[in-house]
Amino acid sequence: MALLELETKKLVTDHCSLITRPRRLRQTEALRSMMRETELNARDFIYPLFVRHGSGRTEIRSMPGIFQLSVDEAVREAESAASLGIPSVILFGIPAEKDPLGLENFADDGIVQQAIKAIKRNTPDMVVVTDVCLCEYTDHGHCGILNVGGDGLATRPHAHLPEGYVLNDPTLDILGKVAVSHAECGADIVAPSGMMDGMVAAIRAALDECGFENTPILSYSVKYASSFYGPFREAAEGAPKFGDRKSHQMDPANVREALREAALDVDEGADMLMVKPALAYLDVIRAVKEAFPELPLAAYNVSGEYAMIKAAAANGWIDEAKVTLETLTGMKRAGADLIITYHALDAAKWIR
Ligand code: PBG
Repeated sequence: MALLELETKKLVTDHCSLITRPRRLRQTEALRSMMRETELNARDFIYPLFVRHGSGRTEIRSMPGIFQLSVDEAVREAESAASLGIPSVILFGIPAEKDPLGLENFADDGIVQQAIKAIKRNTPDMVVVTDVCLCEYTDHGHCGILNVGGDGLATRPHAHLPEGYVLNDPTLDILGKVAVSHAECGADIVAPSGMMDGMVAAIRAALDECGFENTPILSYSVKYASSFYGPFREAAEGAPKFGDRKSHQMDPANVREALREAALDVDEGADMLMVKPALAYLDVIRAVKEAFPELPLAAYNVSGEYAMIKAAAANGWIDEAKVTLETLTGMKRAGADLIITYHALDAAKWIR
């Protein structure tokens, strides 16, 4: 006992040599909040909505709390977002029918076109972003027109390219049409996600030609061929029917290539850049932010990242609110100005 007293005394008096003590600034919540470098805000969030034909809403099995929505329900969901201070939604459409070209993608009465108009009518200040890609609309589930033999309208066979290859330049024409169609319905920002070379330039030209020179482009500049998109493909019914997306989406091992992609998009006139996914790519977010500090940068906190937190929380293994906010804070700390996240509504509530 005497020995313990002696040791304790030594432990509490032996410290005087320490001059620098980071813990001084962590003593109280008031001090901690003064020293906080990164702060999440509801206005950082863009909330994804999946719109489909018909009525009501259907929960996505692998994404609890996220639904396929009718136009009416999408309007309601956008309203909830607005009431929580979330400034923006991004729309994904599930068409009535799919075909090799994805015709509903640029149809006047397409599902996304209807949703844009309805949301803008009901909540005019809501910034409506639209995803511009082919994969949810094509019957083969790929992000572009395929190099397939045959006599269909959809085919432009290029003999030197493999069967089933996603053709780059013919796809650009369609992307331009889709972006213009969205802009005509009142979309505030278009966001090409297909990783086609030249997609930003093609969309910029198509928009400008139709008088939409003020419609900004948020490019999915740095999008990886990631396995974290699994739940989204269930939600948007856009999984490829064969093969994968590795001929256009990036190899997860690369970061120099990310800077090349971002530089090209900047040259082509992108107004905002994106890194996707976010959680396993925080270093990429940082690298892109440092290389292009003058452009707003979005991070896409993708479906698989959402599903992992939901599943662990449902098992009682993690604290959903705390882990979610920690994750989103990490993305912002890494350099993201905006975060596309399925957690947006809950996170906005938790921040309050
Ligand atoms: C393509 C698109 C995808 C996602 C957003 N846009 C799927 C893909 O590239 O396969 C994934 C988003 C997510 O996983 O949350 N239109």
